[in-house]
Amino acid sequence: MKGIILAGGSGTRLHPITLGVSKQLLPVYDKPMIYYPLSVLMLANIRDILLISTPADLPQFRRLLGDGSRLGLRIDYAEQDQPRGLADAFRIGAEHIGDDSVALVLGDNIFHGPAFSEVLLRAAASVDGCVLFGYPVQDPERYGVAEVDARGRLVSVEEKPLLPRSNRAITGLYFYDNDVVSIARDLRPSPRGELEITDVNRAYLDRGKAALVDLGRGFAWLDTGTHDSLMEAGKYVEILQNRQGVRIACVEEVALRMGFIDVDACHALGAELAGTGYGQYVMGVANLARSLEAVG
Ligand code: G1P
Repeated sequence: MKGIILAGGSGTRLHPITLGVSKQLLPVYDKPMIYYPLSVLMLANIRDILLISTPADLPQFRRLLGDGSRLGLRIDYAEQDQPRGLADAFRIGAEHIGDDSVALVLGDNIFHGPAFSEVLLRAAASVDGCVLFGYPVQDPERYGVAEVDARGRLVSVEEKPLLPRSNRAITGLYFYDNDVVSIARDLRPSPRGELEITDVNRAYLDRGKAALVDLGRGFAWLDTGTHDSLMEAGKYVEILQNRQGVRIACVEEVALRMGFIDVDACHALGAELAGTGYGQYVMGVANLARSLEAVG
């Protein structure tokens, strides 16, 4: 399975902050926002990733992540010169996807919850059609909304409906089989002139090939779209990390745990940032893994 991170847009709701820097590079507590969706793809065991952003912002993403090899990944970059909607990612990324399946994650979505990697691996292993991830929210009208029947089967998807049929938002993480390339190619722009991801999902639903995985209570899907929600997301990360002494979306740790890099490589990445708590944490993770290896 291939991965795509969409990190475009102009982040107008966060102006003036995002006049000078991409929204997806803003800090969420102790690390750039993009680390969170990147770690989601990694936890789904996806190593071949295309990052799509604006021509102005791509150089900064490149500087941060390079070709991905330090994390045992392959990261390529592609431009979206105009915001043409989320489904444009599959047109831009058609070559990257090839004849594979693909996971799309939005660069400003933050997911955190128990056994998330297992949920992702299970969903990724059996993509026949599309897999969407639903999450209950108080303000569904701000999102794509999923309606399910009594047996939990998906019956409708709507984009930002005025009168939502349920409180289940469709989160910014989507798994698709290879049909997504032709579906996106044939898609017509919506009345607001965009290639809507919800129209892609409806095409799968019409074929009877759309499934919804519920991320229920006890799971965190956090918004970063406004100054308040961005600050709240940072607070969430701060509170959990300081309480437990573990870091959320530490990409070096995820790379080690997923077997993408070895203990020495992980330690070396931490050592480069040794002057920070983050770097010390990464070295600590490597040291612990090394001592566990020694015990056997
Ligand atoms: C997009 C999608 C929407 C989805 C949301 C998740 O909305 O169109 O269906 O629920 O992402 O973050 P946007 O954030 O582009 O308004």
